[in-house]
Amino acid sequence: MSDGGSYYQRDRLWHPPAYTPGYKTSVTRSPQRALLSFDNSISEMTGPTFGHSIIGELDNDLILNFAKDGEPIGQRIIVHGRVLDENGRGVPNCLVEFWQANAGGRYRHKKESYLAPLDPNFGGCGRTITGEDGSYRFRTIQPGAYPWPNGPNDWRPAHIHFSVFGHAFAQRLITQMYFEGDPMIWKCPIVATIPDREAIERLTAALDMNNTVPMDSRAYKFDIVLRGRRSTLFENRMEGN
Ligand SMILES: [Fe+2]
Repeated sequence: MSDGGSYYQRDRLWHPPAYTPGYKTSVTRSPQRALLSFDNSISEMTGPTFGHSIIGELDNDLILNFAKDGEPIGQRIIVHGRVLDENGRGVPNCLVEFWQANAGGRYRHKKESYLAPLDPNFGGCGRTITGEDGSYRFRTIQPGAYPWPNGPNDWRPAHIHFSVFGHAFAQRLITQMYFEGDPMIWKCPIVATIPDREAIERLTAALDMNNTVPMDSRAYKFDIVLRGRRSTLFENRMEGN
């Protein structure tokens, strides 16, 4: 993979600053001193690698991968899109992992304290690997909004958490996907840490009526952009190579 050139630096005007007092826990978690910058190391640029053999048959199907005596309650959706590098090229063989609350906004997690009930047939996590064109797809239940202890009455909009491993540790991304048209997006203190409205819209999956399954599931489309390499942008192979 090492065809020369280090990765683009993160654009810190586009990403949220580390210190954002409206998001309370960022106060104690943010660095107190100026950041130091290091060159990418060989291990950051060459690993990790994943094969399709690690993926189980139901790993990308949250409707069935935890089902016990029935299917989970809630609105059935398909989430799909492409993982792209910063130069717009599809990134194949990325490990994409996702986790979420159930339809009532409750996580299956020991420390979860929200009163909404667990769904015995819904685990809330899965994974897949991108195809040759960087595409991924999974089936799930639309998650519910949930309250969290930040201000006196703060709620998270419905969201799905994503972790993506590209071709190198420098391309690891952890992010969240929101749903088009959800008014809670604009009331969320975590979303409000993102300085640019367009960046927020990039985190919002579009309702995609072309990929719905009639009488079964709606679909949402969510593309994910990882950092690209500086040296590999050639105008004659912008896409898909
Ligand atoms: Fe969450």
